[in-house]
Amino acid sequence: MTLRAIAFDAYGTLFDVYSVGALAEQRFPGKGAELAAQWRDTQIAYTRIRTLSDRYVPFWQVTEEALAFSARKLGLDLTDEDRRRLMSQYACLSAFPENLGALKELKKLGLPLAILSNGTPEMLDIAVKSAGMNGLFDHILSVEAVKKYKTAPEAYRLGPDAFKLPTREILFVSSNCWDAIGATWFGYTTFWINRGGQPLEELGTQPAVQGRLLTDVVSHVKNSLQNSTKEST
Ligand code: LAC
Repeated sequence: MTLRAIAFDAYGTLFDVYSVGALAEQRFPGKGAELAAQWRDTQIAYTRIRTLSDRYVPFWQVTEEALAFSARKLGLDLTDEDRRRLMSQYACLSAFPENLGALKELKKLGLPLAILSNGTPEMLDIAVKSAGMNGLFDHILSVEAVKKYKTAPEAYRLGPDAFKLPTREILFVSSNCWDAIGATWFGYTTFWINRGGQPLEELGTQPAVQGRLLTDVVSHVKNSLQNSTKEST
């Protein structure tokens, strides 16, 4: 099987969602990491509730509402100014340190690259630019086009439709295990970047490949391309 394209999840995979914890920590000492974790969990829970009940609102709104709930849950007094500052920080999250170099290497291998994310087109555009990643992606795909969040099949279908390739020839890369599993169910070849040494989700399947960093994706893709060249000669 030849890999012909790569699609990346954005939040947590390319952009470090917990980097907002540092700003949260300045405002709420001792609670920054807890707020960042609660915020992320609530955000993903809300995407699922909204998709199951067909109540789509853009990811920016989901993210802001998840922040308001998370602060309330932790008993933190989140002012309008705090909310504005944390949301602006979310708009331009830090990228993981190895990512820019790894993406450039993958681009050199000649495979088309895409982002396939729950984020709105505007959020993804700003995040890509602020991480210096502009020009690296052939497609920036937002689920806004189908108004359903991952793991809805309609969301994953954006990848093969954009690349015009069979799904299994696209490597889907995510550091969210549940997302890598959703993509596996849809038919992608999947790579789980297990940055935090998390246990595998118990969902009856597993991502095809696991690694720790985006640089592991580079090694995997190089090996796959070498093997398919050998097979065809
Ligand atoms: C995304 C979320 C799942 O970027 O991280 O789609």
